[in-house]
Amino acid sequence: MRSAAYEIAVFPGDGTGPEVVREGEKVLGALAEGGPSPWRLTRFPGGGQYFLATGREWEPEAAEAARRADAILLGAVGWPGATLPNGDIAGRALVLGLREGLDLYANVRPCKLYPGVKHRISGEYRSVWAPDRVDLVIVRENTEDLYTPARGRLTRGGETEVAIDTRIITRKGAERVIRRAFQIAAARARGAPEDGVHRVTCIDKSNVMEGCRFFRETFDRVAAEFPSIERDYAYVDAFAQWLVRNPEHYDVVVATNMMGDIVTDLAAVLQGGMGFAAGANVGDAHGMFEPVHGSAPKYAGKNQVNPYATFFAIEQMLRWLGARHRDERLVRQADRLERALAATLADGGSGTYDQGGTATTSDAGDRVAAAVRGEPR
Ligand code: IPM
Ligand code: MN
Repeated sequence: MRSAAYEIAVFPGDGTGPEVVREGEKVLGALAEGGPSPWRLTRFPGGGQYFLATGREWEPEAAEAARRADAILLGAVGWPGATLPNGDIAGRALVLGLREGLDLYANVRPCKLYPGVKHRISGEYRSVWAPDRVDLVIVRENTEDLYTPARGRLTRGGETEVAIDTRIITRKGAERVIRRAFQIAAARARGAPEDGVHRVTCIDKSNVMEGCRFFRETFDRVAAEFPSIERDYAYVDAFAQWLVRNPEHYDVVVATNMMGDIVTDLAAVLQGGMGFAAGANVGDAHGMFEPVHGSAPKYAGKNQVNPYATFFAIEQMLRWLGARHRDERLVRQADRLERALAATLADGGSGTYDQGGTATTSDAGDRVAAAVRGEPR
């Protein structure tokens, strides 16, 4: 616990990023009313659009601020045509660059379905999964696997002959993300919706791949430190099916980077779509929090996208800061925000286009800010 305000570096980024971040700032403002603000937000430009305008992804002081900040809030990066000379997306520095540079080795993506949220499937809005059956957390490794910059092309006579990406699984990388998954499972109030059992499921393809066999061996070794938590295993292909069919079986799930990237988007369907999916990129010393949906260029400037993913990212950020600094005030603010989110969702959902509604991004932000004000501090 400390008296100085927490420094939060805010990177609105590209496309719809600034629109959802603006609503996030609104909600943080509402939470801070009635006392000295527990946090101070500083915005920094950067991303693909910034690159097109300036030739730089961001400024050196922004990179420095990210390193010094107590937490980072990121909107989204990526813009059509914004590509670095080496072919990477411009804005990479803000996402993949910070994951690597600040060693944010765990990507924690909760997947919880709140009452009042619908799923869009086959173009229709339905309630397929019962809200009390979807409450899991996917923990994705965030620094290695196919994302390791061990890749390249063999070009002969100006023609690409071969393109290679190398899948790297390290002992350190696997061990720490698996341990983080077990710690998260140990801290969860309830286990899996199906049976209340605290369980960690290891997602891999160890029937084929060596890196996955090593990941699973590491899983077993780390699991021994947590005898009260059930170990569970699934090949990633089967998991894709079971996740949709029996989401209630899952409590905490741990996966390597690329498989985790894919299954978290699939899981987002269960929680109402990408408009609700938030991710925490956390290491031992730094944390970056983001909505997972990306910059959605098609919707940019329309004040139309769902800002709830950003609100859930902020909830995670406050919880993480509160735990890290043993600051009960922040945990209480996170609880207060979650109650406001749950209450507004129960009362008509997000109302935004992705849920079949006509509410704008700022309407949704106004409603949540008002609900926050009505919640006891
Ligand atoms: C995510 C995104 C990123 C990733 C992209 C934007 C590089 O899809 O956070 O899931 O692949 O990790
Ligand atoms: Mn992704």
